[in-house]
Amino acid sequence: MSTERIRKIINNKDFTKENLSYLISLEGDERDYFLKQVGNTYTESLGKKVYFRGLVEFSNFCTKDCYYCGIRKSNTHSERYDIDNKAIVDAAIFAHENKYGSLVLQSGERSDKAFTVRITSLLKKIKEATNGELGITISLGEQSEETYRDWFEAGAHRYLLRIESSNQDLYYKIHPKDEKHNFETRIKCLKTLQKIGYQTGTGVMIGLPFQSYNDLADDLLFFKNTNIDMVGMGPFIEHTETPLYEHKDALWSLQRRFDVSLNMIATLRILMPDINMAAATALQAIDPMGREKALRYGANVIMPNITPTANRKDYTLYENKPCTDEGADDCANCLSIRVEMAGREIGYNEWGDSKHFFKRQ
Ligand code: 5AD
Ligand code: FES
Repeated sequence: MSTERIRKIINNKDFTKENLSYLISLEGDERDYFLKQVGNTYTESLGKKVYFRGLVEFSNFCTKDCYYCGIRKSNTHSERYDIDNKAIVDAAIFAHENKYGSLVLQSGERSDKAFTVRITSLLKKIKEATNGELGITISLGEQSEETYRDWFEAGAHRYLLRIESSNQDLYYKIHPKDEKHNFETRIKCLKTLQKIGYQTGTGVMIGLPFQSYNDLADDLLFFKNTNIDMVGMGPFIEHTETPLYEHKDALWSLQRRFDVSLNMIATLRILMPDINMAAATALQAIDPMGREKALRYGANVIMPNITPTANRKDYTLYENKPCTDEGADDCANCLSIRVEMAGREIGYNEWGDSKHFFKRQ
């Protein structure tokens, strides 16, 4: 086994695209060595804490038609739901009472006035019901600057908007090429969110059809160059009711997609030591201990799903989504044990903001 090159890259912080691509593609003993190096060292600067964000996927109505996504508007087999504000506020109270520190509100993308106004009032209600103590992240897609501002003023302070792929050509292979699915708009939204003052998160899928290691290296450089505060990235998992399913035979094996996802997390941790990085749920759809492995090699955020159980099975972006039958309690209990097993501590009641955000201010 040759570890010389890996050691040199890490010690010299020599993060060229070529070197990043090399780290992302590691296999076998060399990969084990690399992951171990990152795992042994990154908590020295970042600390051992892992932050919980209670995730509420409150609606799967979506006006977009991404080729990979199970809740795309053209999927007529998706059972649509929309949880009312009262039930969402109850879930927020649950998160607060269980010392989660923060909440993530996510849904399909909509930008009609009724929706945006509803979210503003929902955010205010959540703030009020939790004495302003619960951090609020939202993940509600592309919106106007005005809407982003309204939501920020109403109490949201972090926003997740994945770029999905930073390679524009690849972006248009996994989205329709039309006004509604515009790469430039996506970038512009990320810039607007940063300008307004949100802690801004993005991310990509790993193992997409047509995607190369070089594309993934570019994704990591994109995060660095756009000065992003938070990243969530995980394996692409094909969904039968989507157009990308036809490429299923050309994909990497699920195991390879999983392994490369961990490589991406570890590589990004050395590239951007102070950002928040989520252990994506999609990792767990492949490996039952997937998220815990991500925590060992660089992730420091985990998002227990606290969507009221009756609706959880309908928010299927990809198939084989874990924990869709369990109540929120089960998830919280099993997760706290698992986090400790990964040698980490839970930052109860803490917002767990991105350290990077405060440095770039
Ligand atoms: N496989 C993996 N991740 C997916 N997402 C959507 N569809 C899939 C899929 N089939 C991810 C996207 C989106 C996030 C909410 O879920 O990256 O931004
Ligand atoms: Fe809903 Fe992509 S299908 S945002």
